[in-house]
Amino acid sequence: MRIDLISLFPEFVAQCAAFGVVGRAGERGLLSLYGWNPRDYAEGNYRRVDERPFGGGPGMVMLIEPLRAAIRAARAADPAPARVIYMSPQGARLDQAKVRELAGHERMILLCGRYEGVDERLIQAEVDEEISIGDYVLSGGELAAAVIVDAVARLQEGALGDAESAVQDSFEDGLLDCPHYTRPVEHELGSVPAVLMSGNHAHIAKWRRQQSLGRTWQRRPDLLDEAALSKADRKLLDAYRAELTAGQAGQGDQAAPETVSSADPASGSGKTPG
Ligand code: ADE
Repeated sequence: MRIDLISLFPEFVAQCAAFGVVGRAGERGLLSLYGWNPRDYAEGNYRRVDERPFGGGPGMVMLIEPLRAAIRAARAADPAPARVIYMSPQGARLDQAKVRELAGHERMILLCGRYEGVDERLIQAEVDEEISIGDYVLSGGELAAAVIVDAVARLQEGALGDAESAVQDSFEDGLLDCPHYTRPVEHELGSVPAVLMSGNHAHIAKWRRQQSLGRTWQRRPDLLDEAALSKADRKLLDAYRAELTAGQAGQGDQAAPETVSSADPASGSGKTPG
């Protein structure tokens, strides 16, 4: 996959992409990143890339021409058609389904704004889609672009060491991930649920599924509304809830959903769900 960044600070995104899984994806040729700085396409001694907004108000607005020239240069650098995405809090909120869709594109051009934003006419003419990474305002689109680069890079075939890892990620099936444990088995912070050491793969898979369902129910019930749950899933979730209720009985107001219960891995009971 090829990603072109239109940014006043393209090195910033490149740095974010230099490490770990994304860095390796780059080394393996699964992802190539190219930066295009609109300042290189700006005119005049000062190479202006922004101006005051018409109509007044605070801040500056990025000029059409330097951005358009940078986008055109990026497009022309490779014959494959590129989807142009503007990183903006006004965009559709990024989620894992969107990341999967983006990861399937051969090419993307990520446009990063600064200041108050970009002249609307440039967006209308050149941008296919606006994406936000959340309901908060960053000082520029670069961090948002870095988030997209990271999320799509790890989905490129061969990017992850263990082919299973991406499949088991949070959100891949619309649910939150289950908890994970490693050595030591016994620790002053608690013990590892016994089911994980049982060697019984069916029990382990069932326990993990139940934890995913339970966590999603507790932390992100909105996701559960969207997830397609099977009959078996509903049974697992009912059992999780029942265990939680039983664990909370008599604990009064102090029993927060994610603290202590036999359904909760933090208790270390390691009980096999059933
Ligand atoms: N640029 C500024 N804030 C942003 C956000 N929340 N998402 C994407 N791009 C942005």
